[in-house]
Order: sequence, then structure tokens, then C-alpha cells
Amino acid sequence: MRILVTGGAGFIGSHTLLQVLAQGHEVAVYDNFGNSSRESLRRVREIAGREVLLKEADLLDKAALDEVFEAFQPEAVIHFAGLKAVGESAEIPLAYYSNNVVGTLNLLNVMQERGVRRLVFSSSATVYASDNGLPLVESMRRGATNPYGRTKQQIEEILEDLGASDSSWRIAILRYFNPVGAHESGLIGEDPAGTPNNLLPFVAQVAVGQRPRVRVFGNDYDTVDGTGVRDYIHVVDLAAGHVSALQYLNEHAGVHTWNLGTGRGTSVLEVIDTFARVSGRTIPFEIGARRLGDVATSLADPSKARDDLGWRATRSFEEMCADHWRWQESNPRGYAPEN
Ligand code: UFG
Repeated sequence: MRILVTGGAGFIGSHTLLQVLAQGHEVAVYDNFGNSSRESLRRVREIAGREVLLKEADLLDKAALDEVFEAFQPEAVIHFAGLKAVGESAEIPLAYYSNNVVGTLNLLNVMQERGVRRLVFSSSATVYASDNGLPLVESMRRGATNPYGRTKQQIEEILEDLGASDSSWRIAILRYFNPVGAHESGLIGEDPAGTPNNLLPFVAQVAVGQRPRVRVFGNDYDTVDGTGVRDYIHVVDLAAGHVSALQYLNEHAGVHTWNLGTGRGTSVLEVIDTFARVSGRTIPFEIGARRLGDVATSLADPSKARDDLGWRATRSFEEMCADHWRWQESNPRGYAPEN
């Protein structure tokens, strides 16, 4: 197939490109490099030994979107592009609603106009209401609590309305839990701009000596050791979920939603401990206050993806840390040109 990948230069996008290319598909990336770099695509080409077409443009530029559909004639779209920082979304909500919701509407309109009806969409576990029981099952209530999460929730609702209006749409909504790790080559990985918001990139930067210590956001939660518990998933397992979803859409029309997680939880202190052991580095930390909006525990029930897609995450938390560390150690400044 010819597959258009929006946000293909980003962390999850670049890892998914490799697997889509390995399946023999032709790929074009649509990216504005707002939070990603050309270097990741260069490295994807190097690892895959395949060409990846690139259109550098914004989803808000509908004419540019239309051009890429005209030139590349995609048969399916994997849609990663979007803003994704929870804290920032509360400061600049309009940028989030524009980029994520309006950007997706532009994409869907062009797809509709061009007769492309196959879409895999990056959603997030953040769409679940915080009063659901655990583990989280796809049928549970949505109730995002920040603008970022609401953009994902609104897009899910738009996709469901679209699927209900026209049965020829084939849409996979993938709710990611906490993606970490990196490709085993150490050539591609997560390269957050500025201070990382997420725990693993922060811990990795402390391990490599770029930051003095990790601040643990609260140790008074009702969890195994009082610190927040998350369902970390290796980005290569997550990428494989996209390939499985695409295959599923070959045989099934309609809108389908799947959690992509492991079903296993790891606390902040367990993360620090495992990363220290795997990297052989000391990781100083201090206990700080809770971060606003955090929940004690987030955990997937991954059985629907297993049953429908035959997909499951196979990589352990140790492997996530080892692969993240290989990437961090060999690229201490990420994709920055001085590497
Ligand atoms: N944490 C720290 N110190 C840090 C960073 C994080 O203690 O410096 C803790 C958090 O409090 C939380 C855990 O580490 O308990 C994981 O935090 P992350 O920021 O890595 O991940 P979140 O689960 O908060 O956020 C992720 C995604 C969001 C998504 C959210 C809910 O990054 O995009 O899951 O699905 F919205």
C-alpha cells in the first residue's frame, strides 16, 4: 500500500515507519518538524535502506495536504501529528484545539474528498475518565481532564460520527499508554525539546549527567511505594500495534478502538531503580510535591488488542530501559547537529 504518515518524523512515527517499510509498503511523511527533526528520517532511511518521501508542511495548510494526496495518492493514513504536552495545553489551549482538532478535520476532509477511507489514529489513555476502575477497558467512560486530552477525546468522537455516517470508513483508534524505549540500533529514539515532561527521558538525562536529579512528583499515592504507577510500553511494541491495526482494517470496516499497553504497572521509584541498574549509573532523586492532574495509577487491559489483532507487547521494562539508555548514551543531545 501507499501510506501517508503524518508526524512520521516524531518518536512514535519514526519507529512505526521502520515497521511499515519492512512490510513493503511505500511511505510518505507529512511533518512540520514542530517537535521533530529531519535527522530522524535520515536515520530511518539508513536503517531501512528504503526511500521515504517527505512533505514538509502543516496540517493547518489544507492546500499542502491536498497536494500530497494528489502527488502520492495514498491508500491509507497513519495520523500521529499533533501537540502532546499536557501542561502546555492548559497554557495555550487554542494552539492545541487548532493543531489537533482542526488539523485532523482538514485531514479527514481531504481524505473524504479524495476517497481515502482508511485511517489509524494516535489516541491516548488520557481520554479515560479518572474515576474508572482499573485496569482500563476500551468500553469505559471517557472524561479527559486537560485540553490535550480533550483534543484526543473530541477527535475520537468525530471519528465515531464519521464511521456512523458512512460504513465505508475503516478507522483504528489506538489508545497509547506510556511509550518509552527506542529502536535497538540506538539510532532513533525520543528527543524532547527543552526540559522533558515525561519521566523516562528525564531519568535518562540524569543518568547521562545532563541534569542533577529527578524530582519524584509525590510519594503519598495509594500505590506499592506511594509513587505514581504507569503502564510503560516499548515503542517498538507500540509501533507493531499500528501494523496489526492496518492489517485488521484490510478485513474489517467500521471504527475500532484498542488500548496499546502491557497491563503491567511500574512505579516512579521502580523506574529509577531499574534504569540505574541497567545503565550502571547513579540516578539521584528527591521527593517533591504531586504534579497537578496526575492520577495514582494508569493501567491498560490489553486483551481486546490481543483478541482482535493478535498483538501483544513482548518487551520487558528492563528492555525498555536498556534500549532507551543505548539511544541516550550514543546521542546525548538527541538529533542535535553536533552529534
Ligand atoms: N513523574 C515524576 N517526575 C518527573 C516526571 C514524571 O515523578 O519528572 C511521574 C509522574 O508523576 C507520573 C509518572 O512519573 O507518576 C509518569 O509521568 P509521565 O509524565 O512520564 O507520564 P504521564 O502518565 O503523566 O503522561 C502520559 C503522556 C501524556 C498522557 C498521559 C495520560 O505523556 O501524553 O500519559 O495518558 F496524556
